[in-house]
Amino acid sequence: MGKDIPVAEEMNQSQARYPELFGRIDPAAVPRHVGIIMDGNGRWASRRAFPRIRGHREGVHSVDEVVACAREVGVRVLTLYAFSVENWRRPKMEIQALMSLLREYIVKKLPVMHQHGIRFKTIGRTEDLSPNTRKLLRRAEQETAGYGGLVLNLALSYGGRTEIVDAVRSLVRDAADGKLHPDHVDEALLSARMYTAGLPDPDLIIRTSGEHRTSNFLLWQAAYTELYFTPTFWPDFKRREFLEAILDFQGRERRFGLIGEQLKPTKRVDDAL
Ligand code: FPP
Repeated sequence: MGKDIPVAEEMNQSQARYPELFGRIDPAAVPRHVGIIMDGNGRWASRRAFPRIRGHREGVHSVDEVVACAREVGVRVLTLYAFSVENWRRPKMEIQALMSLLREYIVKKLPVMHQHGIRFKTIGRTEDLSPNTRKLLRRAEQETAGYGGLVLNLALSYGGRTEIVDAVRSLVRDAADGKLHPDHVDEALLSARMYTAGLPDPDLIIRTSGEHRTSNFLLWQAAYTELYFTPTFWPDFKRREFLEAILDFQGRERRFGLIGEQLKPTKRVDDAL
């Protein structure tokens, strides 16, 4: 614990490249946790007559830019939906290509995580992944566990319903062992059994590629989340598009079931309640 985040900051690229957009962001109302459904890699590729994997490869550049931008604007947690439980039904070749991109990403970016104090985490049934991939993920999680910068949370072999099933199973197991009384089950206890235990619920979920669904992503955690849909395909979603999504979020009034006058001038869940 307590590894220091490097003090010397390189130039903030988001500010340097997009001064107007960056300048409009209210630092006091930046979403703490942003989730992203990265969609449209295949369509981006097929419009250019490229193989699908080329879209995924370009999508990794978007991951790079968005991780950097999230850090630069002060987002605390970024959860990226990188591989769903449903994605196992894709052609074997595509699955292998995605897993190899994932491994390549971890190997290349682990030094960057160290440099910026990024804490790497995964959520999902990662036991479904190959031993090689699991080993790399564990290594990145362990080496960065003490950092206090951005939490980069990858959802892998993730499904929101699967997550709820796993949480309920763990509660039922405790009840069967006599360690838990049914009356003690409440929302906080269930939240603590989710893969995201210890993380704030997402304030904002972004979905690219024009689909208006949440597709089994953070079902339990998204009860009060603002949703942002954009027609942009994921490979075209870079710093500028992320900053635009943050600004859109900041223009919304979040009520959490309260009336307007009850809200303090903040857009954060914990502060507003
Ligand atoms: C959705 O596009 C995208 C995915 C299923 C995978 C996302 C993966 C990456 C961006 C690359 C690897 C990730 C990391 C973190 C290194 P799609 O294939 O469903 O696109 P389509 O709907 O247009 O077919």
